[in-house]
Amino acid sequence: MRISVIGCGYLGAVHAACMAALGHQVVGIDVDPDKVDALNAATPSIFEPGLGDALAAELEAGRLRFSTDYADAAEARVHFIAVGTPQRRGEGAADLTYVHAAVEALVPHLRPGAVVVGKSTVPVGTAQLLAERIHADQPDASLVWNPEFLREGVAVADTLHPDRIVYGVPAGDEGDRARAVLDEVYAEALASGTPQVVTDYATAELVKVAANAFLATKISFINAMSEVADAVGADVTHLADAIGHDPRIGRKFLNAGVGFGGGCLPKDIRAFRARAEELGIGDTLGFLREVDAINLRQRDRVVDAIAGALSVNDGDRYFGSDSSTGSLVGRRIAVLGLAFKPESDDIRDSPALDVAVRLKGLGADVVCADPKAIPNARAKHPQLAYASTAEALAGAEAVVLLTEWREYRDLDPAAVAAVASGRIVVDGRNVLDPDAWRAAGWTYRGLGRP
Ligand code: UDX
Repeated sequence: MRISVIGCGYLGAVHAACMAALGHQVVGIDVDPDKVDALNAATPSIFEPGLGDALAAELEAGRLRFSTDYADAAEARVHFIAVGTPQRRGEGAADLTYVHAAVEALVPHLRPGAVVVGKSTVPVGTAQLLAERIHADQPDASLVWNPEFLREGVAVADTLHPDRIVYGVPAGDEGDRARAVLDEVYAEALASGTPQVVTDYATAELVKVAANAFLATKISFINAMSEVADAVGADVTHLADAIGHDPRIGRKFLNAGVGFGGGCLPKDIRAFRARAEELGIGDTLGFLREVDAINLRQRDRVVDAIAGALSVNDGDRYFGSDSSTGSLVGRRIAVLGLAFKPESDDIRDSPALDVAVRLKGLGADVVCADPKAIPNARAKHPQLAYASTAEALAGAEAVVLLTEWREYRDLDPAAVAAVASGRIVVDGRNVLDPDAWRAAGWTYRGLGRP
């Protein structure tokens, strides 16, 4: 099948490479010539495990190329829309500028029988408007809404082996025809038994935001439990294990810590609330405001934990300060992790980076390390100091783990003690072994862990 993928950011670049890996003939279209050049050279600007290799293999095989010219999409039967829908500046709602621009640019090149497939996360009601726009110029083209559930860090595997395939299709024969075309695109996954849900546009749009709202709620639930655990001296990690054994609850996404970030969960819950307000049912999703608030409060808790540990450790060195955060001034803190999650260099809405910025703002001498995210972090926050993990740890009075990269989970407390100047570790992801660190002389603080 000839396929175009419009928008070659995170989602689009991965999708284009994976569609080619399935044997389709793919052209990726993006307005950014630098991005297109980099992708044509198999050097994506994002770090995503397996993506560079997939691009190289498919470019080499001649199944994949990237272009800035929409005319190069004209031969395709299926056009995936994979452009970003960021949060509007100063508002919760999604910015649909790129989606509308992509469809406007694509419409003159659509052939009869073409199927436009929306993958971007959009407010419910968008697909219907786009279908009308497409029909106005090309009545024989169709729109399907096909939300994407890939996770960063495992995006290639998630795209090749999705856990479900959802289509929102128009009613009647048009929907049947469009579905048959898309079934050909996903023939391999469907043949291997991947569950498929075929529904209307509005439901398909809602599926995506509902899934992300649920995941965000699950994380904030366990983070709220971690606050309760701290208040009573309980252990939220054991609590999560115990409730997670109930198959109705499940253990996944019950890891308390510094909270969720990234390009999806935070913006999606805000956009979902904004859309509900527009629909006159704002109260219905009022709980998502609390989900957001709990999530942001985790960052304060981490900062407070560091300040608290430092001031306790220091006795009256900072006597006279009216706030425990006063104890941060001039203190050397190693921040381990900047990306919003491991195996990613993405710093969008990253709780880790936000905590680093706050610590710096409170006067701490912060040195930040991350295996992959330093270039992105430096571009956004040049005021922070960046270094290798070893350099960050050397002379640190406190160590704070904020992104659970394997190399940080595996740190040897005795080895860190040999280079750090203090013995305070704040585990913002609850992934270290408190007993092992305490045995090596450390003051250990987690979130909701005694
Ligand atoms: C998410 C959805 O999972 C995916 O289906 C959708 O397509 C895009 O948004 P992603 O943003 O890649 O994917 O990250 P995800 O793995 O969901 O993690 C989101 C955030 O939640 C990360 O910051 C992570 O550290 C945090 N998280 C996750 C927790 O704090 N606790 C957990 O138990 C799980």
